[in-house]
Amino acid sequence: MYNEIHLNKIDIAGEPPAEEPARQYYFMAKCQDWVREFEQKKGRRPTAFIQTFGCQMNARDSEKLLGILEEAGFVQGADENSDFVLYNTCTVRENANLKVYGRLGYLGGLKRKNPDMLIALCGCMMQEPQVVEKIRKSYRHVDIIFGTHNIFRLAELIFRRLTEKKMVVDIWEGTDAIVEDLPVERKYPFKSGVNIMFGCNNFCSYCIVPYVRGRERSRNPEDIIHEIEGLVADGVVEVMLLGQNVNSYGKTLEEPITFAELLRRVEQIDGLERIRFMTSHPKDLSDELIEVMKNSRKICKHLHLPVQSGSSRILKQMNRKYTKEQYLELVDKLRAAVPDISLTTDIIVGFPGETEEDFQETLDVVRRVRYDSAFTFIYSKRTGTPAAAMEDQVPEDVVKDRFDRLLKEVQDIAAQVVMRDEGTVQKVLVEEMDTHEPGYVTGRLSNNTVVHFQGDASLIGQIVDVSLDEARGFYFMGTKR
Ligand code: 5AD
Ligand code: SF4
Repeated sequence: MYNEIHLNKIDIAGEPPAEEPARQYYFMAKCQDWVREFEQKKGRRPTAFIQTFGCQMNARDSEKLLGILEEAGFVQGADENSDFVLYNTCTVRENANLKVYGRLGYLGGLKRKNPDMLIALCGCMMQEPQVVEKIRKSYRHVDIIFGTHNIFRLAELIFRRLTEKKMVVDIWEGTDAIVEDLPVERKYPFKSGVNIMFGCNNFCSYCIVPYVRGRERSRNPEDIIHEIEGLVADGVVEVMLLGQNVNSYGKTLEEPITFAELLRRVEQIDGLERIRFMTSHPKDLSDELIEVMKNSRKICKHLHLPVQSGSSRILKQMNRKYTKEQYLELVDKLRAAVPDISLTTDIIVGFPGETEEDFQETLDVVRRVRYDSAFTFIYSKRTGTPAAAMEDQVPEDVVKDRFDRLLKEVQDIAAQVVMRDEGTVQKVLVEEMDTHEPGYVTGRLSNNTVVHFQGDASLIGQIVDVSLDEARGFYFMGTKR
């Protein structure tokens, strides 16, 4: 593996190699040189801090970015009082966007106190030209801007910034490249996200993701299996396979394979205990996948199946390519095959043209499916998407009222649904010390529900039997068996 090559052995006197990942290891070694100088001057290594906004994709990207920074010689900082600060941004809804501008002002103040500080921005927001324009003009203290397609280049961009001494902007419109074998610094030793594909081809009419993450590209199954085997050898027992639309995995590969087939192969990996995946688009969820889930010992009893709206009319406007009835049929099929499966979803309220009747259809789906939990979102207008140009944007007060009614319904049902497992004994993967209750740990059931019980740090990363004594809303208090 490349990662095992000691960077000192890389010849950094010569020209950088053209091919990846060798080129990036060259620049990591170059950065190490700079780190040594920094250390001599200040008596300590430079610190690096990454703040991640948004989804699990971004969280995984940040682990890769931190891996590169550590290989380059940085040590992890606790907060923004660090020598290198990177915001990995999200733009799926406007409020995520606004948060970043707010934080940038604050970083300006920190940089005045520590003029050597480097500030970098990456992620989905940076793929929007108007955002980059605004930062270039109004936030001159930013040092490096890059996007979603070239995160593997972080070391090269830092090195450029150090030598050129001016703002470095490197945004790619799209890419076919998938660079393998770069360092990764995982947040949890025992579980990990694994990208299986990048980008999205669905163009739901409200969504900016296809514009900022580019077209669908799948990783080769061999690379995925190889990565997971490496993770398992390193102590990982649970993986989350990540993609914007995992059900269309493999379609564009030279030798196409289905997502269901990939799951069969992942299941074979010895030592791996649990498999999760995200996100499933209902339109592409195959019978083959349901069959694999039914027969699997390792795939968790949980499916995140975003419905977005319960109104077939709105679903059509959203370009979701299924109707309310088709969605409900799919749920029935899933439950018939895997009776104890827990279902979660995403719902948008206030999509342009949504009437009270449409909204009632959404409530109806929520009541029929009875989700374990649901992420509810107020529609956010994203520039450049078809929905942004639609007439009949719903007034804010109407949306807010619908949102509150939906949230109440979702929460009431979730509390009842979670009760279903009260009194049973279940396998729990212990994830961390409980943040509220000293002497307690927090873990997750196969169906993703959280349970707190008495225990110590030695349990973290283990799968143990826990009796679920008391359901409290959306989580349990339990006792280890
Ligand atoms: N407004 C509100 N919610 C959105 N989502 C995506 N785009 C928007 C938008 N413009 C939600 C969808 C998706 C989730 C990740 O974010 O529900 O499933
Ligand atoms: Fe956005 Fe739809 Fe693609 Fe999900 S499937 S990322 S909602 S366009």
